[in-house]
Amino acid sequence: MSTDGLRIMSVVGARPNFMKAAPIMRAIEEHNRAHGGEADKIHHILIHTGQHYDAMMSDAFFQDLDLPEPDIFLGVGSGSHAAQTAKIMKAFEPVVLAEKPQVLLVVGDVNSTVACAMVAAKMTYVGDGSRPLVGHVEAGLRSFDRSMPEEINRIVTDHLSDLLFVTEESGVVNLEHEGVPPDRVHLVGNTMIDTLLSSLAKAGESTILEKLGLKSPEGGDRNDRRSTPFILLTLHRPSNVDRREAFIEILESMIGRDDMAVVFPVHPRTRARIGELKLDRYFHFVPDGGGAIAGKLNAVDPLGYLDFLNLMKNASLVVTDSGGIQEETTCLGVPCVTVRENTERPVTVLEGTNVLAGLRKHAIAEAIRKQLTVSTERRSPPRLWDGRAAERIVQVILENYPPRTRTGGRFVAREMIDSRRTAHV
Ligand code: UD1
Repeated sequence: MSTDGLRIMSVVGARPNFMKAAPIMRAIEEHNRAHGGEADKIHHILIHTGQHYDAMMSDAFFQDLDLPEPDIFLGVGSGSHAAQTAKIMKAFEPVVLAEKPQVLLVVGDVNSTVACAMVAAKMTYVGDGSRPLVGHVEAGLRSFDRSMPEEINRIVTDHLSDLLFVTEESGVVNLEHEGVPPDRVHLVGNTMIDTLLSSLAKAGESTILEKLGLKSPEGGDRNDRRSTPFILLTLHRPSNVDRREAFIEILESMIGRDDMAVVFPVHPRTRARIGELKLDRYFHFVPDGGGAIAGKLNAVDPLGYLDFLNLMKNASLVVTDSGGIQEETTCLGVPCVTVRENTERPVTVLEGTNVLAGLRKHAIAEAIRKQLTVSTERRSPPRLWDGRAAERIVQVILENYPPRTRTGGRFVAREMIDSRRTAHV
């Protein structure tokens, strides 16, 4: 199909976005390699909002994932939800007007995702009166917990989007219940898993286990007796780390295991809370070049993608409140304990290696104990988590551009009104 030089713009902003967007850019490059004619090529523009800006929260991921430098960096930085979202929208609007993409891709559920989707959905290009089609990668996930800012971002973004790219079947069901027209919904698989599968070999070369003293230079994988078994911990959700009692419940569930080290790469917001809430005494802060100690909660700086993937693959268990890590451990076949009451990714519990432990100390400790004894034999990964989701996304975009109609939703409504009228006659 001729695309007449289709212009696609992708937005990334925060750490979990980078690995979701990277394979889409690669699939676009593949498409361009396979299509010689200029009219069939896709022109791609990468925008980084700057929601995450620290070297280890952003730059390290661009290196590890071989991402190109963003074409435009908005540099918005941190702020309250309203301030950050508004800053992104203000900075993004002139970029869309200048670049006039025909398709805007947003990924995940962070403030950058909803802010940019909102700008594009309300845009009108002077001249032909068109606006970009909005595509949401990782659509349809629902925790049904509206106290999570990400849940609000997911709902709003999905209802603004023209193309909804879904990772697991629960997402298709959720969107159907919310009345999203089915022709907008595409179950394509998981681009974050595309990245994981294509990065495993490179991650295997990471020396993070040796650096943290978890493996002697001649040691093997996690079943090797020369390796120190460890639990990998990540926590950053405000609901878990902003209140002292909630944070302590989780920390105390992790102590008292002298057979294992706990390795805790600390997100900047969590690091700040540890200081403010005076929780330093729970941690061994591993100095640069120092090793992790068995029986301790070893706090280390945030890690790059490949080092973290290597740690995850070699951990006896992962304890987390992240969404993406529930999926990554499912794919790796590593047991996971999620310290939340709910998950928007039910496939990780139904088919994967994840359990929801809630937020109470004893329940988390019990889940950890049980999960450490489960067999880690590989189960088959969820449907379409096969490393080819990005390819499918590009295919769907090409099949849906130019859009058949911009007012599809209104036609559906019209048909409903007409059929009701008929029913009353
Ligand atoms: C954001 C996402 C969350 C995602 C997480 C991954 C939203 C609503 N939340 O949460 O869904 O799981 O990213 O990390 O978009 N900070 C730094 N350096 C940085 C970035 C942040 O120090 O590079 C600190 C700042 O103090 C900032 C705080 O972390 O205020 C929170 O950052 P923010 O982007 O607001 O949200 P996250 O907690 O990172």
